[in-house]
This record gives sequence, structure tokens and C-alpha cells, in this order.
Amino acid sequence: MSGRVEGKVAFITGAARGQGRRHAVRLAEEGADIIAVDLLEDIETAPYPLANKADLDETVRQVEALGRRIIAKQADVRELRQLQAVVDQGVEELGGLDIVVAQAGILTMGSDTPQAFIDVVQVNLVGVINAVTAAAPHLQTGASVILTGSTAALLAGSVDITGAGGLGYAHSKRHVARLGHDLARVYAGQQIRVNVIHPTNVETGMMDNEFMYHAFRPDLDNPTREEMIPSLAAKSPMNMPWLSPDDVAEAVLYFASDASRWVTGQQLKLDGGQLLPVGNAGVPA
Ligand SMILES: NC(=O)c1ccc[n+]([C@@H]2O[C@H](COP(=O)([O-])OP(=O)(O)OC[C@H]3O[C@@H](n4cnc5c(N)ncnc54)[C@H](O)[C@@H]3O)[C@@H](O)[C@H]2O)c1
Repeated sequence: MSGRVEGKVAFITGAARGQGRRHAVRLAEEGADIIAVDLLEDIETAPYPLANKADLDETVRQVEALGRRIIAKQADVRELRQLQAVVDQGVEELGGLDIVVAQAGILTMGSDTPQAFIDVVQVNLVGVINAVTAAAPHLQTGASVILTGSTAALLAGSVDITGAGGLGYAHSKRHVARLGHDLARVYAGQQIRVNVIHPTNVETGMMDNEFMYHAFRPDLDNPTREEMIPSLAAKSPMNMPWLSPDDVAEAVLYFASDASRWVTGQQLKLDGGQLLPVGNAGVPA
């Protein structure tokens, strides 16, 4: 089956690389045009590099190679006005807005300062609210809003112990989960759907970096990616180290397409069974 989002327009935050790029390309493969934003600079409390201009250019190249249109701009999700300017321009040029994928995010794990807490909440929670706010005037019946949470939203306590940055990450993702639920209620009457995807580890720049190699292999002086992978897998009931961005993009495509036209308020765990031992996470007690 192809053309599952034919003729639709998707606004994606954090689209320069990682999951955001994959979502842009996957939706383009199925017929969507894209409005893409990314910060394109680092944030001091995030202990790994964020995306750059060359990354966003590569997203543009991949979408255009599919024959789809893309408006790609530098913008900070913490700045509502910047998002509104890009979305308004994108809607004007591409003719509408049907899909929102609010997924720009940072992980400030390891930084035990108030600023690390504030930065991650500003990007991961305020940034999601800003993305929805910028999109809101353009959303029509049939639109789909997809938020990116994390298993950290549902695994109470696990990330909290990694300092103020880790606490802020879990805090932001718990509130994204709740935001998705409440927005689904707000928009149901307009037949606009809101769903949240909660991935476990994903193979992107957020996980695949020196800081994470050390975090998961504190027993080694200079751990490598290859030495981290078994440690990730050991925490998974399915012995899965991490998801591919493709795995997440398939869920985004489902929620973006009319295949899920009556599905709203979902909290979809893409976790390789990670939450199964946590009792009733996501199911009735
Ligand atoms: N990688 C994982 O293991 C994992 C697991 C669960 C959830 N997530 C979530 O998935 C989402 C995507 O992360 P990813 O895995 O693709 O990591 P990533 O670091 O590769 O991508 C995140 C993107 O967001 C951009 N960004 C950061 N701050 C921004 C800002 N203020 N304004 C605009 N863009 C900004 C970055 O430049 C980057 O391109 C995030 O919300 C993250 O929390 C990731």
C-alpha cells in the first residue's frame, strides 16, 4: 500500500536528523509535503551535539528526492513566534496542515543543575505546547496531532535518579503524556485526533554519543558504541538494544493516516516489553 497520507501536509519539529528526519521522509514516501523546523545549534546542558545545518539540508534532499515539497527552517521550539512564522508560511505555500509531529527534544541527563531541569522542560514540554499552538489555527476536521513521549514518562523513578537533568526529562515526558490525553478530549468534537508515542531507546544522536557510552558502561574508561549495545540489550525483555527510527516512523505513519481515523488519546508504548515488569504501566490495575 502506498499513498497513505497522499496530499496531506505535515509539520515536524526536530526534523534535521534522527527520528524527525525519518518521520519526514516516511511521510513523504507516502505522499505528504513537509514543514520542517530544527534548532541547528547546541544547548549547553545537553551533553551531546544537536543537529546542524548540514543535517537539515540532508532531510530536505531526501524529501525532495521523493518528489515531495518541503519548507525547512531554523526555529527554536521554545519560541512560539518563530514556530508560528514557519507554520504560517508553510501552510500558505503548501496549502494546508493535516499532521503535526511534535517531537523535538533534548536529554540533559547527567547535568545536576536547575538550568538542566529548566532547559529540558522548556524544549520537551513547552516546545510541544508551542508546536500545537502554532498549528492550532490551521487544524481542520480529520487532522492528526502526534506527540513524542518516552518510556521515561511511564517508568516512574528510573530517570529521576540521574540528577536534575534526568528528573526534568521524566517530568517533561510525563506532562507530554498527560497533555496528549487532555488535548484528545479538547479536540475530539472537531474530529481532530491526538496520540502520544512512547519509544524506549532509539538509535539516534541522543543515544549514540560518548556521554551515553559512559552512562551505560561506567565500568570502562573509554567505552565504545559496540560496548554499550549489550548493556542496552540486557535491560530489555526482548534483548533489544534500541529501536530503529524506522520502527517509530511506522507508528507515526499509522497515527497520521486515515487508517487510525477513530483512534485518539492513545499512549502507544514502543518499548520491546520494557514496561511489562513494571506492573500496570498503561493498563488497568
Ligand atoms: N533516542 C531515544 O532513545 C529516545 C527515546 C525516547 C524518546 N525520544 C524522544 O524522541 C524525540 C526525538 O529524539 P531523537 O531520538 O530523534 O534525538 P535527536 O537528538 O537525534 O533529535 C532531536 C532533534 O531535535 C532538535 N532540537 C533540540 N532542541 C530543539 C529546539 N529547541 N528547537 C528545535 N529543535 C530542537 C535537535 O537538533 C535534533 O535534530 C525527542 O523528543 C526524544 O526525547 C528519544
